[in-house]
Amino acid sequence: MKHSSQFAGRTIIVGIAGGIAAYKAAALVSRLRQEEAQVQVIMTRAARRFVSPLTFAALSHRPVLSDLFRDEPLGHVNLAHRAELIVVAPATYDLIGKVAHGLADDYLTTTIAASRAPVLFLPAMESQMYENPILQANKRALEELGYRFLAPERGRLASGREGLGRFPERETILKAIAAILQESALLTGWQILVTAGPTRERLDPMRCLSNRSSGRMGYALARAAREWGAEILLISGPTTLQPPPGVSFIGVESAEEMKDAVLKNAPAQDAILMAAAVADWRPARREAKKISKSGQDKLVLTLERTPDILQALGENKHPGQLLIGFAAETDELAAKARAKLTAKHLDLIVANELTRGDAGPEAETNIATLIYPDGKEENLPLQSKLALSREILRRMLGLRSA
Ligand code: CTP
Repeated sequence: MKHSSQFAGRTIIVGIAGGIAAYKAAALVSRLRQEEAQVQVIMTRAARRFVSPLTFAALSHRPVLSDLFRDEPLGHVNLAHRAELIVVAPATYDLIGKVAHGLADDYLTTTIAASRAPVLFLPAMESQMYENPILQANKRALEELGYRFLAPERGRLASGREGLGRFPERETILKAIAAILQESALLTGWQILVTAGPTRERLDPMRCLSNRSSGRMGYALARAAREWGAEILLISGPTTLQPPPGVSFIGVESAEEMKDAVLKNAPAQDAILMAAAVADWRPARREAKKISKSGQDKLVLTLERTPDILQALGENKHPGQLLIGFAAETDELAAKARAKLTAKHLDLIVANELTRGDAGPEAETNIATLIYPDGKEENLPLQSKLALSREILRRMLGLRSA
């Protein structure tokens, strides 16, 4: 298979950690060079015990980086900036644990910390280590943050035992690398607005009405679209999440504030994804003083409607602009979502069940039905919100080219 179109001229860092599979990384580096990629190898101290840096320097046609204090101090920052992809092959139990916990004490871990490029880990180790719940938890935490993993293969391991943990075949690795490099430019040139989180509607200086939205779905969409090269504006209600790196951010509180920020920025967008759980109602009066319970057995609140932001966007969307809405329902999911799709002039609606514990506002995972204006319905399986985001973005790309 010929991959040269994907690899030629691309800057790829190959990080080598100290595992026996380090010798197999030599063949990978050699192949990437043959495909005309610019390869920079970084080795950990332990990796140098397995394979000589000279091997990798000869194969990559560049000195190997390893010592943070001797090899080009601060080089890791520039390098991290230039890299289009970091492949850690093999990724050891220790290295995955370090990155997952924010430790960075050598050339490879500091480069990973300083880079915004996609990172692909290739774990290779004995199966007991690979299946260890600590490794698995670290892997999940990293995946949640957008780091990629290529699963090891089953077969004969260094110990002689059979199990899951073998370094994958070179062609499998090249395919995974090619896919990531290709994805990283899928949304180049797109300007996308994503809304996320709940809104908070004040009742008095202390109290407010809000909802259980965590912001996870919107933040995952913003992260995934940024990773694919889009310029992102994330407008979010209050959450505990950090905006993903490289994303412009506006924090808002109420539906009214979100409306102002969204409508002001809407005309410049190629696509708008309204993942925010905008409150539909707000207290009709916002009390200047804290409401006291003394002398009151009951409190009757009068609520009024908030502005429907998505409705306004649908009525004013410019030709070619894509509008994607979300609907969370406890019942009649598809029918209600379809009605919103039509009423709000959407190009796609993502319908979520509110009745499952493993999906919905606070969960790490989600299950969705995608509904299109032509009536088509697509059921997506339960997956992480980041993986679901990539599925939604793929469909969005399909809508543009349709
Ligand atoms: N939305 C919005 N402005 C609002 C309320 C909702 O832009 N004031 C957006 C949400 O971000 C979401 C979609 O509209 O993309 C949800 O539609 P909505 O009609 O609000 O659904 P629900 O409030 O969930 O349901 P219902 O109308 O059935 O109460």
